[in-house]
Amino acid sequence: TIDAKVDSLLSIMTLEEKIGQLNQYNGFWEITGPAPKEGQAAKKYNDLKKGLVGSMLNVKGVKDVYAIQKIAVEQTRLGIPLLFGFDVIHGHKTISPIPLGEAASWDLEAIKKSAEVAAEEAAAEGINWTFAPMVDISRDARWGRVMEGAGEDTYLGSKIAEARVKGFQGDLSSNKNILACAKHFAGYAFAEAGRDYNTVTVSDEVLHNVILPPFQATIDAGVKTFMNSFNELNGIPATGNAYLQRTLLKDKWNFEGFVVSDWGSINEMIAHGYAKDSKHAAEIAINAGSDMDMESYSYLDNLTTLVKEGKVKEATINDAAKRILKVKFELGLFDNPYKYCNEAHEKATVGKKDIHDAVLDMAKKSIVLLKNENNLLPLQKSGKKIAVIGALANDKTSPLGSWRIAAEDQSAISVLEGLQNYPNNTITYEKGADVTHGRTQFVWETHINTTDKSGFNAAIEVAKKNDVVIMVLGEHGLQTGEGRSRTDIGLPGVQQELLEEIYKVNKNIVLVLTNGRPLAIPWAAENIPAILETWHLGTQSGHAIAQVLYGDYNPSGKLPMTFPRNVAQLPIYYNYKNTGRPTMNEPESVFWSHYSDEKNSPQFAFGHGLSYSKFEYSDLKLSQSSFSDNGKLTVSVTLKNNSAVAGKEVVQLYIRDLIGSFTRPVKELKGFELVALNPFETKTITFTISTETISYYTANQKWEAEPGDFKVFVGGSSDKNLEANFQYFKTN
Ligand code: IFM
Repeated sequence: TIDAKVDSLLSIMTLEEKIGQLNQYNGFWEITGPAPKEGQAAKKYNDLKKGLVGSMLNVKGVKDVYAIQKIAVEQTRLGIPLLFGFDVIHGHKTISPIPLGEAASWDLEAIKKSAEVAAEEAAAEGINWTFAPMVDISRDARWGRVMEGAGEDTYLGSKIAEARVKGFQGDLSSNKNILACAKHFAGYAFAEAGRDYNTVTVSDEVLHNVILPPFQATIDAGVKTFMNSFNELNGIPATGNAYLQRTLLKDKWNFEGFVVSDWGSINEMIAHGYAKDSKHAAEIAINAGSDMDMESYSYLDNLTTLVKEGKVKEATINDAAKRILKVKFELGLFDNPYKYCNEAHEKATVGKKDIHDAVLDMAKKSIVLLKNENNLLPLQKSGKKIAVIGALANDKTSPLGSWRIAAEDQSAISVLEGLQNYPNNTITYEKGADVTHGRTQFVWETHINTTDKSGFNAAIEVAKKNDVVIMVLGEHGLQTGEGRSRTDIGLPGVQQELLEEIYKVNKNIVLVLTNGRPLAIPWAAENIPAILETWHLGTQSGHAIAQVLYGDYNPSGKLPMTFPRNVAQLPIYYNYKNTGRPTMNEPESVFWSHYSDEKNSPQFAFGHGLSYSKFEYSDLKLSQSSFSDNGKLTVSVTLKNNSAVAGKEVVQLYIRDLIGSFTRPVKELKGFELVALNPFETKTITFTISTETISYYTANQKWEAEPGDFKVFVGGSSDKNLEANFQYFKTN
């Protein structure tokens, strides 16, 4: 068995060699963290040769991976192969939509497929481990990394987490699948005020009911690795948090894989004020259950001494090394360390047509039609003169979004190219204004919004002369992601002014939004007749958008995150608590939970998304009005496509638990189904409600169903539903 093989290998390893397995180095350049300091590259090569490295990150391409693997296999005493980790976040070289965009598809099969092709392409480049999926539930759009997750909902997020893990890991004995990594454990997205890396304070109730379930879903899906997190959680840095990593993850959830730290997060416990120096940090982290040190140098420098001093047990080192070696065996690296190193396969796989087809399919499915007055969309295919305005329309880098470190810059199809690809249309392009200036091609470039309005007049003239104006506005792909928190989530730069100026001369505007987070666009939502949310859709972006604009693809995406009216509403999410003073339609006083200068409601609700079809819901029925013990009931609803256009609709089921030992949200998603309907077709959709549906982490500190009254809601959005009531009771 693998366990026996690991034990026998461990028995011949020195303490230093075991600690070496816990050490992960960044490659020799700056990609996802600071560049190596003077002299560090030489040290890394030396440590590799001495068998003091267990894994490398940010090395890619068969040639480079092979060269480094060869050192580990041929020049070290035991020849233990390395793991090669990389941030394969949404596609690899061929880029799929940002994860938040993919989540908008609510299409679990497509999301799984997207992870599958990303794994295949990355594996062909020698990589055997991705630092994905990020399963952080996020409620605050100021945080730039909301683009990397599945949005605000725990149920949807758990389903997507499972699909992504299965897509990446598939069959690990093949050379097409790679290890997945559930991150960031835990609470990272709850950073105070949406500022990246900031302090996180959450209650036990929120931790267990909102944040942790997607992590558990990844374990159920067989995930092999976890990454901890930069943040402190309730006063203890996640990296040094024994409750998270030992009590929950390894003891209660029986996780058998290993935990890697985030980049330098072991040493960051010094700045947190939790460890006095690197040695102390190593002691805290390993004892708390962080198995592998990503680029802190802290384990290699200190663990031997700490074991000798009795501050860390050798059994703790053995356990961590065992977990890592086990994963290497499971991946088949001991049978063939060069399993992922075949140059002919690399050439045949990277950028192949199947992968482009899959990312195009995913891109179309990720688009959300937010507004469509007077059926301005889809565009007529001929006879109309179309103006295209906005620098982002003509940008071949922005659609790649953040976290696309293996992609070629400028490798996306722009919206303009996508539209020009359609025959018989007359398109005139004007930039109007840049979004940012001072950009280089470097991934971590800080973007500065431009104030230059010199292009406005030319754009206004073009808008006057055309029937329809497509304005492509939003955030540049590199204005979101890690370290890109923003306090203003409106349209960056002078884009809002540009939009208003164009509107003065031509009201037939289709606003194509491109962004990595919910934006606050109250004026546009009020005035612009058609708004299409296109996120950062990846390599095939322009083709996907053009097909939707021209109606060759009927959009079916639904928002996985609430769009606020105003940044000051954040954090905003559909499954809020009612409070003791909830919103009233006609409040008689000021003493209720509200703002005096803004509505409580969002601009666009979670789950919202239109179609070129017209869907109608009716006949919500329950099989019975109550169920007990381990029973269940069935909910059915009639869905009609009352239009001549075939389309797909995401039917959503929510519940509300009226009284709980912990207060319950006003609505919680508990089921959904993506339904395809032909013109004028009607279907009955059914859902089952069981104790699993209504269970939550109660004041008894366990998952259980509490007896009482419930509401059930079914509809095409979190804010538009049919509703009914049921009861759950226990007979003993
Ligand atoms: O995987 C990432 C993580 O999400 C943020 N810090 C760096 C890691 C490796 O690149």
